[in-house]
Amino acid sequence: MRANPDGVVSKYLVECARPGTIVHLSQAAGGFTMPEPLPHRLLFISGGSGITPVMSMVRTLLRRGYGGTITFLHYAQSPAHQIFADELAELPPNVHVHLVYPEQSGRFFTPMELSRLVPDYPDVDTWACGPAGLIEKIQAAYDGGDKLRVEYFKTPVLRGTAGGDVTFTKAGATAANTGTTLLEQAEAAGLTPEFGCRMGICFSCTSHKAEGTVRNVLTGEESSLPDEDIRICVSIPVGNCAVEI
Ligand code: FES
Repeated sequence: MRANPDGVVSKYLVECARPGTIVHLSQAAGGFTMPEPLPHRLLFISGGSGITPVMSMVRTLLRRGYGGTITFLHYAQSPAHQIFADELAELPPNVHVHLVYPEQSGRFFTPMELSRLVPDYPDVDTWACGPAGLIEKIQAAYDGGDKLRVEYFKTPVLRGTAGGDVTFTKAGATAANTGTTLLEQAEAAGLTPEFGCRMGICFSCTSHKAEGTVRNVLTGEESSLPDEDIRICVSIPVGNCAVEI
């Protein structure tokens, strides 16, 4: 088994699970099914490991000889995090692949970006799969339209240890560290820092840490470097911490 570098479950299974570990599975759910007959244009939008079900659908469509146009917009943290890179490079010409790497480009999903690729996107059958923050933005762009089907996942709620204080230097506010992510703690303090995916993919929430130690909830790594840029949606302060928010 291979661990998805963006993933939490696959990394846990590869690195931590042992024979005898009990894994509970739930029923598959959601609206990720294809209509019959197939429309002549399809739009897929995915983020991070949300690409997996989308690739599965694209493979099935191509195997069935689908000759319509598929637009495939995918967000991955960086090229190093791109799953299925070789397969994506070899898709046939009727599949228009657009890969966006927020770490490099600073771009994340906006309705304007989507309308540049597919000007009439609200009228095109669309499937979107990715982190909850991305899906919320896509749902807002479709404004309740019936062409959008979604699947989403959330970052598991990992908690740190409460203790010390968190200082939001721009706001001039200090609050007791509750052990949740800095994004959640900032919001609990009434602040509105920018965010996108809330899952460490899009870099929209990158903020400057002036001092203190933070733990990455995805990797468990701690960093005590002063003056570093961190993604506050996946960073938990360990003790005192000061962030420019
Ligand atoms: S990396 Fe996307 S909101 Fe933090």
